Amino acid sequence: MEQLSVNHLLGIKYLKKEDIQLIFKTADHFKEVINRPIKKVPSLRDITIANLFFENSTRTKLSFELAEKRLSADVINFSASQSSVKKGETLIDTVNNILAMKVDLIVMRHPNPGAALFLSKNVDACIINAGDGTHEHPTQALLDTFSLREALGDDLTGKNIAIVGDIQHSRVALSNIEALKLLGANVRVCGPETLIPKHLQSMGVEVSHDLDDTIRWADALNMLRIQLERQGPSDAVRFFPTLREYTMRFGLTLERLGQSDSPVVIMHPGPINRGVEIS
Ligand code: CP
Repeated sequence: MEQLSVNHLLGIKYLKKEDIQLIFKTADHFKEVINRPIKKVPSLRDITIANLFFENSTRTKLSFELAEKRLSADVINFSASQSSVKKGETLIDTVNNILAMKVDLIVMRHPNPGAALFLSKNVDACIINAGDGTHEHPTQALLDTFSLREALGDDLTGKNIAIVGDIQHSRVALSNIEALKLLGANVRVCGPETLIPKHLQSMGVEVSHDLDDTIRWADALNMLRIQLERQGPSDAVRFFPTLREYTMRFGLTLERLGQSDSPVVIMHPGPINRGVEIS
């Protein structure tokens, strides 16, 4: 049986191209399953999974829970705000308490970059990172590249993929860049100078501050949310003068899209700030 080269899913940077291809091959099969009248298969029967969310989520939390249930796993959900974390319990103690109840696998979202890696080194369970601060969101990147493969063809080699917006605070951007580079795509990031980290060029990524030029270049645009909650106290706008100015320079509209001669795939990981990054 083919196997992943890793025991945990902590970030795309720990994966090989063959790992991503194996995940896609498996996902192709399960995608067929969810279109059947009975969507449930026994693949994870007798496996118990704990979903630990220390930060808000809609899409990731619900899609993990649905996938686990459709694969017949037993599932427990943990929300930090209603737990003994509020009484000062440490992350390791919390997770070891959960593991003592014979849990096999931990899915964790956490506001601190590196929290999933830290956990994988300190507890005896398989860890899946569902987003760690501004660091990585590997399952989002797998979903995005899987979707691009469906829209643009199995081989993403040489395809032009642009990631637009708040790159600085985005775990989705970093994981997408890692995945797209592994799969041979050309990657460009586009946004205000203040929201693009300097080190990205060393990852072989093109940098642009011109959305109109980027629309003409791209086969696909992944529009990212402005993450006001990570920009400083009280959701203040600190990296550009006003949201209105941001939207004028980097907001995607139908009129702007009209400049492209060929079809462009538009993506957004959600949640969307409607009227800001996309009309
Ligand atoms: N895309 C994504 O991670 O969304 P949530 O924060 O709602 O999980």
